[in-house]
Amino acid sequence: MPDNIDNLLTETRRFAPSDEFAAGAVATDALYREASDDRLAFWAARSRELLTWQKPFTEVLDWSNPPFAKWFADGRLNVAYNCLDRHVEEGNGDRVAIHWEGEPGDSRTITYAELTADVKRAANALLSLGVKPGDRVVIYLPLVPEAVVSMLAVARIGAVHSVVFGGFSAESIRARVDDAGAKVVITADGGWRKGAVSALKPAVDEALETATHGETTVEKVIVVKRGGNDVAWDDSRDVWWDDLMEGADDEHVAEAFEAEHPLFILYTSGTTGKPKGILHTSGGYLTGAAYSHRNVFDLHPETDVYWSTADIGWITGHTYVVYGPLANGATQVIYEGTPDSPEPGRWWDVIEKYGVTLFYAAPTAIRGFMKAGRQIPAARDLSSLRLLGSVGEPINPEAWIWYRDVIGGGATPVVDTWWQTETGSIMISALPGVTTLKPGSAQVPLPGIAIDVVDDRGEPVGNGEGGLLVITEPWPSMLRGIWGDPDRYRETYWEKFADKGYYFAGDGARKDEDGDIWLLGRVDDVMNVSGHRLSTAEIESALVSHPIVAEAAVVGAADETTGQAVVAFVILRTSQADSMTPEEAVAALRNHVGHEIGAIAKPKTVLIVAELPKTRSGKIMRRLLRDVAEGREIGDTTTLADTSVMQVIHAQVG
Ligand code: WTA
Repeated sequence: MPDNIDNLLTETRRFAPSDEFAAGAVATDALYREASDDRLAFWAARSRELLTWQKPFTEVLDWSNPPFAKWFADGRLNVAYNCLDRHVEEGNGDRVAIHWEGEPGDSRTITYAELTADVKRAANALLSLGVKPGDRVVIYLPLVPEAVVSMLAVARIGAVHSVVFGGFSAESIRARVDDAGAKVVITADGGWRKGAVSALKPAVDEALETATHGETTVEKVIVVKRGGNDVAWDDSRDVWWDDLMEGADDEHVAEAFEAEHPLFILYTSGTTGKPKGILHTSGGYLTGAAYSHRNVFDLHPETDVYWSTADIGWITGHTYVVYGPLANGATQVIYEGTPDSPEPGRWWDVIEKYGVTLFYAAPTAIRGFMKAGRQIPAARDLSSLRLLGSVGEPINPEAWIWYRDVIGGGATPVVDTWWQTETGSIMISALPGVTTLKPGSAQVPLPGIAIDVVDDRGEPVGNGEGGLLVITEPWPSMLRGIWGDPDRYRETYWEKFADKGYYFAGDGARKDEDGDIWLLGRVDDVMNVSGHRLSTAEIESALVSHPIVAEAAVVGAADETTGQAVVAFVILRTSQADSMTPEEAVAALRNHVGHEIGAIAKPKTVLIVAELPKTRSGKIMRRLLRDVAEGREIGDTTTLADTSVMQVIHAQVG
């Protein structure tokens, strides 16, 4: 992303923490010293201080079989107990855990005591359906309290959840259900988004349809009432959430599981068409979640009101809506809908209503608000805010400054947090109260995390130079593998720098003169659209599954609001596409991708071409297509099998 490099050259604004903020800050300099003195002792201390272990661990890290790590392996704990019961036992049962705000304006306030009772009931309900430790449960829900209750109930009984984003299609659900071998699916009779009720259960019904997709491992579908849609019903399979909960006991004693007991699988895009089931386990993950949430967001659980706008379908919703905040006993806001429903100031109304102090959002949303104008947030009282966070993609310095000035009243720190589904928790971020902030840069690894930017041979680049971002030492919340595919895990993340034992993140980065890190975007064929990872291969395979398409290539092109936008180049099968106008073909293909993957993956632009640029070995040169999509002069074409192809494409798409 050349934008960042340009900005890097000119960006000289610096924001030191105020004395007042520094005086009350959770994180201090001492963390960096302690971590560099003895990294493993540092992590052991964090884990003991932040979590309650039913059986304390004596081992910290077992790295005898890299890249398969074990953290705190001889300890035992229950993740849900750590997020719930212990807060109640400590006398904080009346503290609000969740201020939930529905999109149509309904709301619910749930204390830690109430949330604990609900989760116990849901745990008993799942047990009554025969769910056992290690069984997989797919969760396909809108952002309602039952989503959080479901995740924690699954965790409580030692089962494994796999949350599928509510915008994904039946095809996507089925692929995940099959890969995970799920026994139960939890869904709803609709949810509110953009002022309307979405259908959720029909997608689950379609996904589980045996006539089209064959037998499934799913035995039960639990349906939460939210949208009020009429739903088709299979008496032998479907059961209402309310009926189950009504009959369930609200006493349940949490059993302790091993630290490495699997907690969840979350599917994310890779460079091939098949999504990767990223596996996280219990003790190390929860340590990373609680530690980073407390220190990066400067959480004071007695007084702060925290809000992350992420959906539970993404890793941010796992680590910074469910596990981090609840492990820390935080009070948080959860909002069901979109930022602009029913009108463009909705988010700022929510902040005013609940007195939100800590706010975490994505740059794509910030840029959207910048476009809409500062008069919208200016009409609300946002003075409760004292810290702002950003995640999902690079935040350009102009958006960073706007965020601080317009949302943060020109006074709040803004922390830009870099991490991934795979890393489980934040890896690179300033610590508010310690770090002098630099707009546009994610800056420094968290204490305890070892990061470098290296060249192709794994040698560190100097300050002022760019290269590949790597994590050089294992960390507690690291992924433990790709579900069912250890070879793919090794190849994807560890092969590139196997001799050094580095984890390769797939991102390009640059060190500035101070050694601070600036993220430059993905170096592989993974796009980042509105902070969400989409693979070019996945969208290409959806396109070629349509009868009118002979071949397809997808690239991410720079986009002012969404960071990147999906641009598809397709060659049509003339025999099939004859009866359609080009406009009809384009519309059909966009809808088809929406149906196969979900609306989020619909190409913004579909360009119909006669040929695609390929190397002699037949590899599509996406770099050249990106040049076309971004309206740039076309780069080096010498390795093309047929060098005239680009001229043809250029002439065709104008
Ligand atoms: C990108 C989201 C720049 C990056 C938590 C990474 C970022 C991918 C940042 C992971 C950031 C995330 N600055 N880029 N602060 N945060 N990314 O798995 O390319 O959905 O590899 O996790 O998002 O996306 P994922």
